[in-house]
Amino acid sequence: MTLTLHAAAPDFGALDTPLLVLALPSAPTMRDEWQAVDTAANGAIARALARRDFRGGRDETLHLAGGEQGIQRILLVGMGSPADRPAALRRAGAIAARQANRLGVGRLAFAAGDLSGEELEAAGLGLTMGAWDFKELKTAPPAEEQRAPLEEATILAADAAARDAGLRAAIAIGAGQSLARRLGMLPGNVCTPDYLADTARDIAKRLGMETTVLDRAAMQREKMGSFLAVAQGTTQDPKLIMLTYRRGPKDGQPIVLVGKGLCFDSGGISIKPAQGMEWMKFDMCGAAGVLGAMEAIGRLELPVNVVGLIGSTTNMPSGEAMKPGDVVQASNGKYIEIINTDAEGRLVLADVLSFAKRLSPAAVIDAATLTGACVIALGHTATGVLGTDDALIEEVIGAGKRAGEPGWALPLWDEYKDLIKSDVADIKNSGGRPAGTITAAMFLREFAEGYPWVHLDVAGTAYTESDLGTVPRGPTGVPVGTFVEFVRGRAR
Ligand code: BES
Ligand code: MN
Ligand code: ZN
Repeated sequence: MTLTLHAAAPDFGALDTPLLVLALPSAPTMRDEWQAVDTAANGAIARALARRDFRGGRDETLHLAGGEQGIQRILLVGMGSPADRPAALRRAGAIAARQANRLGVGRLAFAAGDLSGEELEAAGLGLTMGAWDFKELKTAPPAEEQRAPLEEATILAADAAARDAGLRAAIAIGAGQSLARRLGMLPGNVCTPDYLADTARDIAKRLGMETTVLDRAAMQREKMGSFLAVAQGTTQDPKLIMLTYRRGPKDGQPIVLVGKGLCFDSGGISIKPAQGMEWMKFDMCGAAGVLGAMEAIGRLELPVNVVGLIGSTTNMPSGEAMKPGDVVQASNGKYIEIINTDAEGRLVLADVLSFAKRLSPAAVIDAATLTGACVIALGHTATGVLGTDDALIEEVIGAGKRAGEPGWALPLWDEYKDLIKSDVADIKNSGGRPAGTITAAMFLREFAEGYPWVHLDVAGTAYTESDLGTVPRGPTGVPVGTFVEFVRGRAR
């Protein structure tokens, strides 16, 4: 369940909350307006600051008892010395909400002094991120062991305009990120290509969009031999999902967001080792990012035209499966030699990116958990960014920065093309280990023709195998923020 967010003017004397969060920078000092809070804590805040029990370091927390009524508990959360205040507030919100989930308080109030609209939005997104939890496939514990999950948070801010704009954006984008994370967490036997198509239809119905879904037969008619090669090994029906949002100028060229939607990637005949293979349910996080972004864009009612495109299937070994050495033809006519059936994401995207051309896009951005090599190059900190248009690359990196989803550019030089030359076909689907993220993008470039294009390799950033403090093991919501900030930037 998504957190319900509110915003209100601060009135600490009248506040009735089981938990008040105060987000503070390093070397914090008491604010006059917090006197009522300190009174509720019998002076414990002033003492904690004077004794330097709490120094406001990043992620530092101190939990204090409050009154019987009114402000019942107080949590101080440190933000360090932030260069980027929205980013620090996002983080503090997430830390606070996770702590509230552990305490089982159900609701909280969040204060950090004066907040601009942008800052309030960031705090709201952080709270939503931290409150997010995935419990739907677990049996509930007995009643006496249950702790109330955080369901409501009120952000306190004096500026009414900031409250309105910031709250609305936080709710919209938070819903998109929560949707993407839920889809990511759902296992492959639940979140199938059909399930993703139904999710797109649901978004379309609620938010006034249109969907078109191509199934295996339709893709055969479109001669999408590359996508279909991946889907050959599975009995599940593959889906090419198109979700169209039109609120921009009539006939205005759309922004096209493309997502890799591998509901499970076993590697196929080039099968992956058993150890850790279960993580490959997350191979649809690019697609989840597109759906999450469309959810947010629809709720924000941005005045733009955007099309979401998802290529969804499952990569499985079987007697029917594609095999190394096979040559297939993509819908743009190019012949591909399949060297490694585990390099399947690029085969799916080849036909989806070729399809995108008929939409006459203003720009195409795809997101894919495409290469393990990207995790080696950039770790879990930055998304790999590659493309054919330098200005667009900068624009996308800027959007990611604003969203707290850093991206880093890798080169897409012609010199790398030699690595994916084939003896028998126009191109091969694997260049081996050197420059694995770049050769994957070089492959995609052959199909991303006729429009400005940027590729996001989110293999290291869309989900985390360790607890990040703000986010537990599992999906992070990346690249929803990047997509939404990009589209918002274009809508301005
Ligand atoms: N989905 C994987 C990439 C991946 C690996 C994402 C680890 C997240 C974590 C992709 O389909 C894949 O298997 N790529 C291969 C490509 C290789 C065979 C050229 C890889 O990265 O090993
Ligand atoms: Mn693979
Ligand atoms: Zn994959």
